[in-house]
Amino acid sequence: MILTVTANPAIDRVYFINGFEIGKVHRADRISCSAGGKGLNVARVAHIIGRETAAMGFVGGYTGEFIKSEIEKQGIKNLFTDIEEETRTCINISDENGASGEILEAGPKVSEEERQRFISDYSAYIKDYDIICVSGSLPRGLTSDFYAELSRIAKEKGKKIIIDTSGKTLEEILCANPYMVKPNEDELSALMNKEITTDDDIKDALFYLKEKGVEVPLLSLGKDGAAAMIDGECYKFLTQPVNVVNAVGSGDSTVAGIAAGLDMGYSLEDAIKLGMATGTANTQFEQTGMVTKDLVDRFFAQIRVEMI
Ligand SMILES: Nc1ncnc2c1ncn2[C@@H]1O[C@H](COP(=O)(O)OP(=O)(O)OP(=O)(O)O)[C@@H](O)[C@H]1O
Ligand SMILES: [Mg+2]
Repeated sequence: MILTVTANPAIDRVYFINGFEIGKVHRADRISCSAGGKGLNVARVAHIIGRETAAMGFVGGYTGEFIKSEIEKQGIKNLFTDIEEETRTCINISDENGASGEILEAGPKVSEEERQRFISDYSAYIKDYDIICVSGSLPRGLTSDFYAELSRIAKEKGKKIIIDTSGKTLEEILCANPYMVKPNEDELSALMNKEITTDDDIKDALFYLKEKGVEVPLLSLGKDGAAAMIDGECYKFLTQPVNVVNAVGSGDSTVAGIAAGLDMGYSLEDAIKLGMATGTANTQFEQTGMVTKDLVDRFFAQIRVEMI
């Protein structure tokens, strides 16, 4: 079973309005409202491809209640920790030409008591799960070593943890010996302060993660697939070229696919192939973090693996 952690979820509200201007009154042509957050994308996709999945994180207020009811409707087990402050709402205004703007709230502040309650719940729940996926940014009130703590607890209990985050939080978890990290090219390049373009750059980047303490370093490369180090060797995973509908959430879908593969007892190579297929399948839908099992199976058969 798979456990996801979304520390800073949000309600994503999209207003479809043509010709939006400050100072005018608008009527929305269409509105969509969903439970958002990278870990929730992972949970949804893992569930769609057939794995039992639970979601942890922090939620508060009416918006938090909405998130809990949405994930339960999707068949994901709710293990969220309730907090005092209200979960954020992120607003996107889109027009029919594809232009859009966003308003992002900072989100609630997690208190020390709430952090401790989460850690105690996490330490108890984790025994029932084999793969832990931790994704996205941290809410206010948590320090950048929070994921490192989750990683250490997972390791102590002999569980595999996959972490997908960026910046200082990514830097801090590398030394906590996580099972896998999945930065994309921009995130790792920013961390290393170095461009990643050639195969040699990719190998250097994988060795950098390995030397810091990551068991399985994985670098996702968008349309160029991904690269990973398995048993000291570097491999590229190449996906089929596709016409993209919306690639946002492909990294989250990749994490879901890898977690699902590991959960089903696939070899590491096949689990990463499943992650590539799931990431590519996500590009075929308007909705962020969406796949179908048929499409994933079709792309899985097309993934090529090359040693670099
Ligand atoms: N344009 C594309 N064509 C084919 N496959 C893609 C494309 N974009 C992404 N993918 C698949 O999805 C995986 C993850 O994509 P990417 O590296 O863009 O993740 P990301 O930047 O972390 O995404 P996000 O943070 O939005 O979830 C890739 O390794 C690849 O398998
Ligand atoms: Mg990403």
